[in-house]
Amino acid sequence: MRHLLTITDLSLPEFETILRRATDMKLGPDRYIRALYEQVLLMIFEAPSLRTRLSFETAMTQLHGHAINYYTIHSPWGAGKESIEDVARTLSRYCNAVSVRMFSHEELTKLAVHAEVPVINAMTNVGHPCQILGDFLTMKERFGRETGLTIAYVGDAKNNVTYSLMRAAVMTGNQLRIGCPASEDYSPDPAVTDELASIEGSGSVSVTPDPAAAVRDAHVVYTDSWMSYRVADEEKERRLGDLGPYRVTESLMALAREDAVFMHCLPAWRGHEVTEGVIDGRQSIVFDQAENRLHTEKAILFELLGGGEASLPES
Ligand code: CP
Repeated sequence: MRHLLTITDLSLPEFETILRRATDMKLGPDRYIRALYEQVLLMIFEAPSLRTRLSFETAMTQLHGHAINYYTIHSPWGAGKESIEDVARTLSRYCNAVSVRMFSHEELTKLAVHAEVPVINAMTNVGHPCQILGDFLTMKERFGRETGLTIAYVGDAKNNVTYSLMRAAVMTGNQLRIGCPASEDYSPDPAVTDELASIEGSGSVSVTPDPAAAVRDAHVVYTDSWMSYRVADEEKERRLGDLGPYRVTESLMALAREDAVFMHCLPAWRGHEVTEGVIDGRQSIVFDQAENRLHTEKAILFELLGGGEASLPES
């Protein structure tokens, strides 16, 4: 039994297998009908979601399993009446796997220690591995490979998506350039930067306060919301001022390669981290990204739950 708590829980061959499995499932969904017949996924949410909620539930439906949606606000645990250890032990008696969106990665880890079924990180404060698998499938579809690319991430870099991108870039042999304000409010957590030294792989991560330097000649320009789920409304004005120079505009995109793509994990705060012209423009692949959450999550569930004997084409 394996968990997916952080992207580095996967070896590089396992990462690549999930992408190949996802492609196979996307191109030939009929081969996987009933792959997870009568298996049950519990989806725990401590924060809102559109993509993660819909893609996991659709994944289970398409594989003929079942998904249960559960907001912690309705749970004895959320009300402070039950320990997370007992929640883990209990859910393991009903369900075959659990996907969990919670703020504290430490709590998620505690749940995984006590669960007897696979635990999937559906986003915590330090990582969003499901997002990154969907993103790498999308890059592979666009460029024919998921390695040897230059990825520019611009904006607020103190967040889970950036951290998972950092880990995955090193692991998969990509160059990630982060353009963010030179302030600890927006820079990657030093603990994550330190963690990179322990990740096997030929990729690299650099950080610059100059958004143009980050984007120049990149294959991918990536950003995330400046007002993600845990940012208080009172922060809005200050963040708009600090992050203004990092908005992905048409002129910033023009510094990237001619065939560069724009990516955003969504939800987007349109007109702030990205202009409408870019997110709706010819280079934007944000809805391919969103769709690929479904195919990669089907592949994750299939691999973690031993979904059957379906063989996988070589490439
Ligand atoms: N990108 C992402 O995880 O979207 P949701 O918050 O809507 O699930």
